[in-house]
Amino acid sequence: MRKYAIILAAGKGTRMKTELPKCAYPLLKKPMIAYIVENIQNSEQFDEIIVVVGHKREIIQDILGDKVTYAVQEEQLGTGHAVMVCEPHITDLEGFTMILPGDMPLVDNSVIEKAILEHKDRRDDLTIVTTKIEEPEGYGRIIRNESGYLDSIIEHHEATMSQRTISEINTGIYVVGTKLLFSSLKKIDNHNMKNEYYLTDIVGIMQQQKEVIGTYYLKESYKSMGVNDLYALSIAEAKLRLNINKQMMLNGVAMINPETITIGQNVVIEENVIIHPNTYITGNSVIKKGASIGPNTEIHDSVIGEKVVCKHSLVYNSTVDESTTVGPFAHLRDGAHIGAHNRIGNFVEVKKSTTQENTKASHLAYIGDATVGKNVNFGCGSITVNYDGKNKYQTTIGDDVFIGCNVNLIAPIHVDDNSLIAAGSTLNKNVPKGSLAIARAYQVNKENYIKDKKEAEENNEN
Ligand code: UD1
Ligand code: CA
Repeated sequence: MRKYAIILAAGKGTRMKTELPKCAYPLLKKPMIAYIVENIQNSEQFDEIIVVVGHKREIIQDILGDKVTYAVQEEQLGTGHAVMVCEPHITDLEGFTMILPGDMPLVDNSVIEKAILEHKDRRDDLTIVTTKIEEPEGYGRIIRNESGYLDSIIEHHEATMSQRTISEINTGIYVVGTKLLFSSLKKIDNHNMKNEYYLTDIVGIMQQQKEVIGTYYLKESYKSMGVNDLYALSIAEAKLRLNINKQMMLNGVAMINPETITIGQNVVIEENVIIHPNTYITGNSVIKKGASIGPNTEIHDSVIGEKVVCKHSLVYNSTVDESTTVGPFAHLRDGAHIGAHNRIGNFVEVKKSTTQENTKASHLAYIGDATVGKNVNFGCGSITVNYDGKNKYQTTIGDDVFIGCNVNLIAPIHVDDNSLIAAGSTLNKNVPKGSLAIARAYQVNKENYIKDKKEAEENNEN
């Protein structure tokens, strides 16, 4: 008995009024479709996840990779049609199928698990997840008969004024016997206002066949919010942000002005961390114990060590070891790995480089494609000249090196341990261990130059 999850993500999302397919839109820097797919994977309730793709499907497939099966819906002829195109992928009709829209990022494991439980407990043929919302505009309404049983689902634009006052809506989440699902879908048509094959029409078909249809009422209605436009996207994102921040704070993460702080769903933050305003921590980032992050900081896909202080800075795809200070106004990127007890200060950029412990670049430096030892000091304005317009070259710097201000290290170059580089030097040769390197013009003072010049000019005039 195989259990399927079908996720509908072929739609263009016309109401978004933008280029990107709706289900690829990010919330907290993670695509909408990734939320529901990850939750389904984590629930471990299914043998196979089928994602229906169509409009700009390569974008959705790029996001999800090969973790799921794809069913292609070339033309978006409606939600019913979207499920129909999954049929070739169904190898076992005995189990059940759960159908979920891809535009519902707040659906969590508990919704998935409870809906399946209800379906099994009550031995329904079809279970429809419903909820009540204050502004049901746009949703299909749940019409019940006098005894309170489901009568039908009427789409918003086909509903009468009095039906539109009904606040109970179809969430678009269903659990249904697989065999029955596909046999019923063969009987639906597109004779409606949108000329689409509505998935919701299987309700009428099943009623005629006297199948058992039940509803599972979801109390936390916000979880089934469908994102149809950019306003709804902002509301869903705000809700997610609030939930994540609350959980973080309850786990011992202090937040100053939490409403200005954005933490992605996959971020791990250990206890005793303090996060200051206007800070984004997203992707697969980890923030270890005792760190202080922000204000005005962006950290994406990075690991920040214990007791690190990182303020007014950008850290992408990088690692910072314990007790290091980053910022203000530093930029770490592309696999930078900063050692412990470092200081990466004002207006310093570090790209694809590593440093060992106790190294400092306090101001105005560029460290790119470099391997740097411990106890190295980069003076103000020192730069690795890593690019000749065509290729990138490596700089290696040993331990205990002092680099004076405004030094250019033209790569490829090696500066060996315990050496000293005079301020203002432009080096294009390796520096041996323990030496002083100077590569700059010597200073000449022409004494009395100003006075002599003036006198010469006066003599010319006479
Ligand atoms: C649908 C339901 C409505 C329910 C609402 C809940 C139908 C007819 N209506 O309406 O009762 O209240 O969801 O949010 O089912 N999609 C495809 N292929 C298509 C059409 C849509 O894959 O041909 C996908 C979309 O990408 C989207 C999902 O199905 O992820 C839902 O489609 P959408 O157009 O948003 O349906 P609603 O009008 O919201
Ligand atoms: Ca929708």
